[in-house]
Amino acid sequence: MPEDIRRAANLTTELNDIQFKVLYTIAKLMNRYDSIPPETVRTLSDLSEAQTLDALKSLVRYEAVVKRNTGYGMLMLGLDTLALHDLAKKGLLSDIGPAIGVGKESDVYECLDMNKNPLALKVFRLGRISFRALKKRRDYAGMQGHKWLLSCIIASEKEDRILKMLEKHKLPIPSVRGRAFHTLLMDMELGIPLYKVKKLDDAYDVLASLLQFMRDAYNRAGVVNGDLSEFNVLITPQHKIIVIDWPQAIMKDSPIALPYLMQDIDHILSFFRKKYDAKVDKEVAVNYVLAKSSKLF
Ligand SMILES: Nc1ncnc2c1ncn2[C@@H]1O[C@H](COP(=O)(O)OP(=O)(O)O)[C@@H](O)[C@H]1O
Ligand SMILES: [Mg+2]
Repeated sequence: MPEDIRRAANLTTELNDIQFKVLYTIAKLMNRYDSIPPETVRTLSDLSEAQTLDALKSLVRYEAVVKRNTGYGMLMLGLDTLALHDLAKKGLLSDIGPAIGVGKESDVYECLDMNKNPLALKVFRLGRISFRALKKRRDYAGMQGHKWLLSCIIASEKEDRILKMLEKHKLPIPSVRGRAFHTLLMDMELGIPLYKVKKLDDAYDVLASLLQFMRDAYNRAGVVNGDLSEFNVLITPQHKIIVIDWPQAIMKDSPIALPYLMQDIDHILSFFRKKYDAKVDKEVAVNYVLAKSSKLF
């Protein structure tokens, strides 16, 4: 839904300081109320009653906020607008371009930093599939409840944390430039997802670097991706791999880390076997990733 972000980008240029203040206050109160009393918004924003009510009314008109019973609730467009405003204010983002990836749980846009360098902006939209189904059932606003928006924020916080852990160990992942609400701004990687690569002459080398990646992520950073697949592995023109998409990652000390690591290994081995006819024995790969052996072939 690329047009969503465009509406938000427009809104960042239309809202005045008071409207932004009220919108920020609503974001602050999202985890305490489903429906935020206007009086609470007024107190926290330090505005007059008339200013608060005027701003709320216009935000409802813009569809950034919704009126629920006697109070107000944040909508996705409102949160998108805050995130873009925040990133621009921090000097991290100057322009938003086309969508480059509409994934399972997010929309990813190409954008530019202040020096016109390309960046990737990931905007979390968890549970998109059920969201679409609900939209059809005309329950759009319900799905935009605070609980859903908060879980998108939590996912972006988690992916930010994990990417920084991996970066500390110099693993090939996108560097994070910034985070705001339910969005994450990263370096734009000039690779294509493996599922789009029909032929791979050096399939064994690429598979080996991917298994080496899993070995380092697990043993050095203590992280299991948990959703590793041909959709989340990018390959550069020089055939370097970059692993993206980490909000569901699992820490090594979790009781489910090992089963998820096995699932990741299984998935990668079977993809390389079926697509590129590159075969590595499962036990050999597992021992390698667990650092019980240093031999792959
Ligand atoms: N840092 C990045 N650089 C380039 N492309 C990216 C980057 N992050 C994501 N993408 C693109 O966006 C798509 C969706 O991103 P991803 O993190 O996998 O989210 P999802 O959870 O929605 O699958 C990816 O398949 C990829 O094509
Ligand atoms: Mg993905």
